[in-house]
Amino acid sequence: MLRFLVFTDLHMEDCQDGPERLETILRHAKDEQVDFIVSLGDLCFPVEQHAHVMDRLNTCGIPVHHTIGNHDVQEWDIAHSLRFLGKERPWEAFEAGGYKFIILDTCYWKSENGAFHFPNKERIPSLYPWVPEEQLAWLKEQLADGKKYVIFSHMSLVNPFARRGIANKEAIQQLFEGKDILLCMNGHDHGSDLKWVNGVPYCTVSSASQFCWWGGDPPRVENIFYKDPLHVIVEIDDQEIRILGMESEFAGLTPEDVGVTDYRWNGVDVHPRAQSHTIKRQQ
Ligand SMILES: [Fe+2]
Ligand SMILES: [Fe+2]
Repeated sequence: MLRFLVFTDLHMEDCQDGPERLETILRHAKDEQVDFIVSLGDLCFPVEQHAHVMDRLNTCGIPVHHTIGNHDVQEWDIAHSLRFLGKERPWEAFEAGGYKFIILDTCYWKSENGAFHFPNKERIPSLYPWVPEEQLAWLKEQLADGKKYVIFSHMSLVNPFARRGIANKEAIQQLFEGKDILLCMNGHDHGSDLKWVNGVPYCTVSSASQFCWWGGDPPRVENIFYKDPLHVIVEIDDQEIRILGMESEFAGLTPEDVGVTDYRWNGVDVHPRAQSHTIKRQQ
């Protein structure tokens, strides 16, 4: 059985207790003896004051695989962020336990002049996010070897909520047709979700820190913190895929305080939990 831990959207710059949150995640990974850890992005601004985050991850004794999130390239070009994360390429694949894991980079925006990697410093109006042709061609090649795949991305490949998921969803979903895609996982939405599209499960993992609410009159922004660093452990065996989540509570403000009484934000569930799911594998 293969077991790995997935966390996302720690946003170290936004939470005072970020180091403790990271320690909690790493302790759990160690206790569960996971084979590897995946960060689905928005880890921390890639600046010197956060070098301790990478030092800690690089010395935790467990391989950590990084996904590029929009906040990882909010003010910095992709080359800088790759250096900070110790990543060679923005998208990549690795194998473990007989499965192939594919990490996509969805942090592109598109205008009439083409697709560009974030940052979109000039704030040019665009359709975003977007996976450009070059990466789609690479993905097609990666999916040509008849293996069983798990796909990671920062943005959802299916969330239709305003500008949350990638804009060219159908192009990706077409590439998955006839392939043995066990699971797709994403972050970015700071809540939980599981959607099935064409027989493929797409799981959104909640944030290890908070969700950012905006609204009101006059307009304001509030960080609604989850008390614990939400994350999941994923187990894959021959029969099923188990996504083992966790329950928490809010630390301070709650969704009710800002009028989110249905606990839905950005198209996902913002109860203070990482959802658990059991997915039977098709034999
Ligand atoms: Fe985020
Ligand atoms: Fe994000």
